[in-house]
Amino acid sequence: MVDYRKLVAEAAKAKENAYVPYSQFRVGAAILTDKGQIFTGCNIENSSFGLTICAERTALFKAVSAGHRKFQALAVSTDTEEITSPCGACRQVLIEFGEDIEIIMANVYGDYQVFTVGELLPLAFKPEKLKEERLT
Ligand code: THU
Repeated sequence: MVDYRKLVAEAAKAKENAYVPYSQFRVGAAILTDKGQIFTGCNIENSSFGLTICAERTALFKAVSAGHRKFQALAVSTDTEEITSPCGACRQVLIEFGEDIEIIMANVYGDYQVFTVGELLPLAFKPEKLKEERLT
């Protein structure tokens, strides 16, 4: 059983390290591996705006670069009253590691909603596609 509240709390803590001089929009994320380990991340902006990385990808890349490949859930926390759902780029990067990863989206009060990555990115381009027979 995934402890959603704990993962949300970790994401909220990670949010404190957000580097957001341009948007002031802090985001924190926490990803739970299949083995129960948690990696956290925040958004890191850049004066060359397109180089900004989202909190979700920071957390995922930290986990992958530490050798993990299977994930149970990822929580994302923002300072807004409405929940924030991961951007399209993050959805694509997350679905590479499985459509069943649960995404826990939390608002500033810690209230949350849960959807799987597959629900957030229907008809996704997936790694299996590259293994399919091609006709030309
Ligand atoms: N951002 C995230 O970190 N995650 C999301 O899911 C949406 C957007 C960041 C990128 C940028 O630093 C700021 O939020 C405003 O777009």
